[in-house]
Amino acid sequence: MDFSNLDKLVPQLRREYRSGKLDEKDMAADPFAQFGQWFLETVKEGCDLPNGAFLATSGAGARPSGRVVLVKGFDKAGFVFFTDQRSLKGRDLTFNPKAALVFFWPKLDRQVIVRGAVKLLEEKKTKNYFAGRPREAQLAAAVSVQSSVVRGRKMIEDQYQKLVKKLAGKPVPKPAEWSGYKLAPQWVEFFQGRPNRLNDRLCYSRRRKGLWTLQRLAP
Ligand SMILES: Cc1cc2nc3c(=O)[nH]c(=O)nc-3n(C[C@H](O)[C@H](O)[C@H](O)COP(=O)(O)O)c2cc1C
Repeated sequence: MDFSNLDKLVPQLRREYRSGKLDEKDMAADPFAQFGQWFLETVKEGCDLPNGAFLATSGAGARPSGRVVLVKGFDKAGFVFFTDQRSLKGRDLTFNPKAALVFFWPKLDRQVIVRGAVKLLEEKKTKNYFAGRPREAQLAAAVSVQSSVVRGRKMIEDQYQKLVKKLAGKPVPKPAEWSGYKLAPQWVEFFQGRPNRLNDRLCYSRRRKGLWTLQRLAP
């Protein structure tokens, strides 16, 4: 592939953000209600994978890392995702249980940034969620030590097929390290792209239990 024209191509990708605006007076009293409203709008607009979010962590040596996860639930206690405690993110979160989640909805020129402390979800809830996953996904989780080095794809596929046979007719046990995590927000930013890059950024920061301060940040 010829990348020599990238420097000409990239400027052509520029576009204005014209999807909407954010007014203090229209914001909900807490970020959860506001997030719920935006999430519904995102689904209504037909945004692809609206619950996909970038998860940023930082572990030993303060080395940052990031990846996409699917947020599987949210309520006033926080945002829930599932992963393997042995993965890089899992190890980061054991070392430093703080993270940021970034939702990006380009169709609406919006992002939501959530920062806060992360805790393991109650094991009972994790087990319930795991039990409701498609069997194939349960088996995949059971044969994968996420983020470990594997010799090749064949090795993983062979292990998968072995487990399919071994567990035929039986439920797939949840791997002990496969866990739910809940990020309890301290800070939630709602970003709306606006024309001329004069974007709206309204941020909720947590004062005391259940009480939030709303501030506008410069674009
Ligand atoms: C659309 C999408 C959804 C994903 N959802 C998850 C998820 O919910 N949980 C998860 O552990 N990994 C998920 N992944 C894979 C992660 O991005 C990542 O590759 C994996 O978790 C290992 O990350 P780590 O080595 O940084 O821990 C998803 C990837 C994509 C592209």
